Amino acid sequence: MSAPLDDAPTIGVIGGTGFYSFFDDEARDVVVDTPFGAPSAPISVGTVNGVRVAFVPRHGRSHEYPPHRVPYRATMWALRSLGVRRVLAPCAVGSLTPDIGPGAVVIPDQLVDRTSGREHTVFDTSAVHVSFADPYCPTLRGHASQAARSAPAQPPVVDGGTMVVVEGPRFSTRAESRWFAAQGWTLVNMTGHPEAVLARELQMCYAAVALVTDLDAGVAEGEGVSETEVYAVFERSLQMLKGLLSHAVALVDTDPAAAECDCAAGGHDLDALMAR
Ligand code: ADE
Repeated sequence: MSAPLDDAPTIGVIGGTGFYSFFDDEARDVVVDTPFGAPSAPISVGTVNGVRVAFVPRHGRSHEYPPHRVPYRATMWALRSLGVRRVLAPCAVGSLTPDIGPGAVVIPDQLVDRTSGREHTVFDTSAVHVSFADPYCPTLRGHASQAARSAPAQPPVVDGGTMVVVEGPRFSTRAESRWFAAQGWTLVNMTGHPEAVLARELQMCYAAVALVTDLDAGVAEGEGVSETEVYAVFERSLQMLKGLLSHAVALVDTDPAAAECDCAAGGHDLDALMAR
């Protein structure tokens, strides 16, 4: 396991599709080995808005990891082992309601796992069952939401909503998408699981910052979702998203109540596990 750095960042950001760099200054790359292999890229440590931040692009620096092959366990473990305790996780999502269109930012408060076969726990050799009724940190969600509302670009912001995570890498069929919408779910995405549960197991606060890139197939008439439109909307919104996250890290850093949540209160002795 890697030791925390002297200037250990306590806040981590996991860049989504098209989000590969984040810093105001020169960042340092830290190569971290984990029991689950290498993370999706070396962890970059630098300063954003005066705050030390660890950054890692979820899909790798050359977008080499599709959603179902991202080394989620290694990435989350690597962040935790460097000292990170709060993770902001931007991601591209499809909307399951016509009221929330491309360009909107949603801070979901619930998650439905429809993935299959992903490695989704760090506890393979001990029986640990974390609480996951509320998958996102309420405090960190609040910071993300506040930052989104004050973003100069003024994106539509929705505080709350259920994100269903599909296995991908294909987009959903119209019938699947209509079914998700009929359940009352708000968003569909391919990477939100197992990131959130791994954060909980590793006793880190975690909030997803979902950028709507498209109306999913069951919501919009026409051809259905295309990769091109997803990338184009993400690209168009990248500066807004970076500004939002930069504001969010400053809010977290200066909030004396930032640690007042139960995310690190799991009954398991994580330090003992990580020291093994
Ligand atoms: N990511 C962005 N848009 C998506 C969609 N419609 N379905 C699944 N993942 C997505």
